[in-house]
Amino acid sequence: MTQDRYAFTQRVLHWLIALMVLGLLAGGWVMTHMKAADLPAGLYEMIYANHKNFGVVVLVLMLLRIVARLVHGAPAPHAGLANWQRTASAVVHIGFYALLIIQPVLGLIGTWSFPAPVPLLDGLGIDNPFTQDRELSKTLFELHEIVGKVLIVLAVLHIGGALMHIFKRDGVFRRMSFGRK
Ligand code: HEM
Ligand code: HEM
Repeated sequence: MTQDRYAFTQRVLHWLIALMVLGLLAGGWVMTHMKAADLPAGLYEMIYANHKNFGVVVLVLMLLRIVARLVHGAPAPHAGLANWQRTASAVVHIGFYALLIIQPVLGLIGTWSFPAPVPLLDGLGIDNPFTQDRELSKTLFELHEIVGKVLIVLAVLHIGGALMHIFKRDGVFRRMSFGRK
């Protein structure tokens, strides 16, 4: 039987990472556009700490996802897709793979070089290997902002495309879902 959907591990990783990335983009927006005083007590601090923690988790899961992709490959492109759709989805998918490694690394080194805590790593006893460098931190967070905006564009294109396939019921969504049909 030829492979007609992504391996189970790849589907689990896709949905875990998708949920976290959408939360990270929303949380990043709150962190940079709202003030702690405008939110219920403690919420801003909670979003900040969880943004850093889940950002590191996405980095680890993305590394596992690359291994899963190398081991399992991908199903052949869906037969019903036009050439431009194959090219567009490949560009968006490669963009996600690259930027979801780059973005958490920028955030992590930007935070370490500030320096500010990363609760998850601090809790695991992983020490900050950087010394204070505010210039480096500022540059890395400028890049973190730009990459965040590119990721929002990719997410809009990707989710828009996925919704179109769900409505058309052409079998593309099934490749990444857990349902029978
Ligand atoms: C921001 C969150 C998301 C990210 C980062 C993301 C990332 C990706 C990536 C990288 C792939 C390619 C998989 C590979 O070739 O290994 C993929 C495939 C796919 N994604 Fe997402 N995704 C997200 C959200 C969603 C959502 C919300 C949906 C559905 C509404 C969705 C539906 C799909 C489907 C159906 C495929 C398979 C496409 C195909 O058959 O080639 N994704 N996603
Ligand atoms: C895939 C992972 C990540 C995504 C998608 C993401 C996304 C974002 C976005 C969209 C912003 C708002 C940028 C702006 O408009 O200025 C932001 C801000 C921020 N991120 Fe991330 N981030 C990720 C990982 C991380 C990690 C791992 C850390 C640190 C350990 C981190 C630390 C921060 C900090 C401190 C800010 C606030 C920067 C400021 O106040 O200027 N991020 N992030």
